[in-house]
Amino acid sequence: MRLRRYPSPKELAHAAAELFCDRARDGFSVALAGGSTPKAMYHLLASHAYRDRVDWNSIDFFWGDERCVPPGHTDSNFRMANDVMLSALEVLPERIHRIEAERDDLDRVAADYEEDILKTLGDPPTFDLVLLGLGTDGHTASLFPHSPALREKERWVTINPVGQMGGNRFTLTYPAINRAKEIVFLVAGKKKAETLARVLEGPSDPAELPAQAITGNVHWMVDEDSAGELSR
Ligand code: 6PG
Repeated sequence: MRLRRYPSPKELAHAAAELFCDRARDGFSVALAGGSTPKAMYHLLASHAYRDRVDWNSIDFFWGDERCVPPGHTDSNFRMANDVMLSALEVLPERIHRIEAERDDLDRVAADYEEDILKTLGDPPTFDLVLLGLGTDGHTASLFPHSPALREKERWVTINPVGQMGGNRFTLTYPAINRAKEIVFLVAGKKKAETLARVLEGPSDPAELPAQAITGNVHWMVDEDSAGELSR
């Protein structure tokens, strides 16, 4: 596990954009994080400072999780990345592997997304890069504390009934995320400081802090505000 601290969210976003450009190559696959933290990184990747460094149509874009909303909904993780980055980069539709979260046949949606992953990455699937955020409750992707998806060890994608969020979420499972060649957490803001310290330095309790069970080639990229309660 590697931890890098950056003075501000802006410097964190630039470092994350640099890492992405450094890793991206033909046939590269990435599972994008949702939420708000990665938005600045995605925005930078679509900017003149970075956009010409990558052959965007040689990359397969997936999502680590999705809310059960249509693609145009303000809560949609697809919409956030598409509005800020993918549409600006004119990424071809066949390179955008959206979770069809607007449908109401949830199990079929999860199975279809899993099939798309296997068809693109092979079976078992290995993402080149998985981007993750960290919730103040210790969740990541849509792996929430004490939720059923934490126990999923076979499937690569599952529906997670997330009571604390008032509904269902689609999420990559631990097996899918932990097989990735590289996993990068992006964490920023004072409100994450206590949780980040508990996840990285507290006792192991992955049911309570699901981000603790993300293992493998894990790289934490955090700003000083969120790192404020770390001992090092
Ligand atoms: C989501 C994300 C989720 C997110 C964390 C952090 O769908 O919301 O996948 O896991 O990364 O909740 O969100 P912020 O970056 O907005 O703090």
